[in-house]
Amino acid sequence: MTTLALTLRPLQAADCDRLLSWIDSEDALYQWSGTQSFTWPLDHGQLLRDLEVHAGGPRQLLAAIDDAGEMTGHVSVDVNRHHRFANIGRVAIAPDRRGGGLGTALMRATVQHGFDELGLHRLQLTVYTFNTAAIACYRGVGFVVEGLARDSTRGSTGYWDGLTMSLLEPDYRRPLALGEGVRIAGPRDADAVAGLLAEAGYPHGRDAAAARLLAWAAEAQAAVLVAEAGGAVTGCVAVCRLPCFERPGWSARVVSLAAGHSEVRDRLLEAATRWAEHRGAAGLKLSSPAGSGA
Ligand SMILES: CC(C)(COP(=O)(O)OP(=O)(O)OC[C@H]1O[C@@H](n2cnc3c(N)ncnc32)[C@H](O)[C@@H]1OP(=O)(O)O)[C@@H](O)C(=O)NCCC(=O)NCCS
Repeated sequence: MTTLALTLRPLQAADCDRLLSWIDSEDALYQWSGTQSFTWPLDHGQLLRDLEVHAGGPRQLLAAIDDAGEMTGHVSVDVNRHHRFANIGRVAIAPDRRGGGLGTALMRATVQHGFDELGLHRLQLTVYTFNTAAIACYRGVGFVVEGLARDSTRGSTGYWDGLTMSLLEPDYRRPLALGEGVRIAGPRDADAVAGLLAEAGYPHGRDAAAARLLAWAAEAQAAVLVAEAGGAVTGCVAVCRLPCFERPGWSARVVSLAAGHSEVRDRLLEAATRWAEHRGAAGLKLSSPAGSGA
């Protein structure tokens, strides 16, 4: 499998028309850039002024370029050198290029830039809770959820909640290894997860499973892991960590485990243990209704 790669370079005035064409509504503006930078309707003048204001400053505005030399994405990296962190913002992929792995490639290039080139310790960002694709991109490169900023933006459908996520340099250098054939679940797993839960006696449609996966992706203390074989999902486990009360530290609990074969169940439990240990929790407890069910 080839890994998609994008190259970052400074955004230029000549890129602004292309960038402008990617933002086609007030909601899209907030979703892309939050509430602080621009006003709707966005126009060329605002983008050019913003470029001038940030030239040579701590906020780097970057264009992501593909193999053919086309600007395919955009991201900003707002660096605090003293505290060695950066706020990542304005993540975008050209609308006609979305859904093919470029968002994840853009984030890979961004974290590499932040840690390897800028020598930072922490990268942080905010993403709205409904933004399935963006959350999957961030989780895919190792970001974890830290918290929820409630009602932080007023969109056309009402208030939106923001998730705060971060990635620390030691976790970038030593990423969570879940084991052979196990990975964090993403939006594309909704069908398979629905099927596994239904087989385990908990009937689920695709939409219900997708909503559950999104809700769990927004949980700071939890993860859904899936096992794969030959490109097919063969099992899933939902695990969470919780603070101990009778002693210091954290423990972890399997909330749901659905898999047809004992080998897959064992692999998922091993992966859940690794996830828990990576998050500083010891002693994985099983309390799964789907438990041995499937
Ligand atoms: C967020 C964004 C950058 C993602 O880019 P992308 O190229 O579509 O991302 P990828 O193709 O790498 O997909 C990442 C994940 O999202 C999933 N995904 C992509 N598009 C999706 C969609 N429309 N619905 C549900 N999931 C989707 C993919 O399946 C993938 O999940 P997986 O790793 O489990 O397979 C892009 O959608 C975008 O520019 N959105 C508008 C601006 C925005 O919201 N920016 C984020 C600000 S915080």
